[in-house]
Amino acid sequence: MRNVGKTLFVLTLVLAVTGLSAQTTTQTQKPKPFEPQSGQAGKDVVWVPTPQELVEKMLDLAKLTPNDFLIDLGSGDGRTVITAAKRGATALGIEYNPDMVELSKKNAAAAGVTSKATFVKADIFESDYSKATVLTLFLLPQLNLKLRPTILNMKPGTRVVSNSFNMEDWEPDETARIETECTSWCTAYLWIVPAKVDGTWTTPNGDLTLKQTFQMVNGTLGPTAISNGKLHGTEITFSVGNTKYVGQVNGTSIKGTTASGGAWSATKR
Ligand SMILES: C[S@@+](CC[C@H](N)C(=O)[O-])C[C@H]1O[C@@H](n2cnc3c(N)ncnc32)[C@H](O)[C@@H]1O
Repeated sequence: MRNVGKTLFVLTLVLAVTGLSAQTTTQTQKPKPFEPQSGQAGKDVVWVPTPQELVEKMLDLAKLTPNDFLIDLGSGDGRTVITAAKRGATALGIEYNPDMVELSKKNAAAAGVTSKATFVKADIFESDYSKATVLTLFLLPQLNLKLRPTILNMKPGTRVVSNSFNMEDWEPDETARIETECTSWCTAYLWIVPAKVDGTWTTPNGDLTLKQTFQMVNGTLGPTAISNGKLHGTEITFSVGNTKYVGQVNGTSIKGTTASGGAWSATKR
């Protein structure tokens, strides 16, 4: 009987010590902080970070100013948004992976830009990004194409910059490359959302009939074909013979000047 009592006592002691040590281990083992891995799965595209040098180049290409509102579609660890905020712009990242969103928020706090850089956990294909004045992308060609109709309906003049992937037959307005020691993700493309001018416009010099393909414009002024027709956001330029026309498109009206200094205007029919 005394032996049974002794055994029970030892067993209780062993259990107590084991329990205590397990508890201590649990208390000291902090959960590992989330560490993103380049190439990790994402909803529609994996995460690969844009090299910081290209981030800077993309923002230079967009001519980002403190008045801009930048949205990065699929914002990863937040680097583009944070860099934009450091340049004084207001910036928002839309990212599907909640761990990446939390990491971005931490990174923004560490950079001291939480008032300018915010992040939401959302699907870019179900988000409204129409308020952006600068849109940045590092997705895939087919995703750019899927977004293209929405982008083309954004406010004319919105600057869209993509890391490496293009917009098929919507040619970029500008391209910039990292030339030195760059082996991957070295190119940035810029598109400026063009105003919509396709159709017939009434002018004092006859009908201006325009056929628009993205930012490229063909057509006629009266009986004469126009040449070098191009849109740069809301600015339209074209030549008729040797006369160059420049105008500002504002919905259904255009007001501008010719190279000789004369004023011209047009109203959409
Ligand atoms: C190639 S990474 C680019 C990250 C960041 N923009 C950069 O340039 O460093 C693409 C990001 O898009 C995110 N993503 C994929 N599909 C998405 C979706 N449908 N909505 C929001 N984010 C998405 C991925 O989780 C990933 O972080």
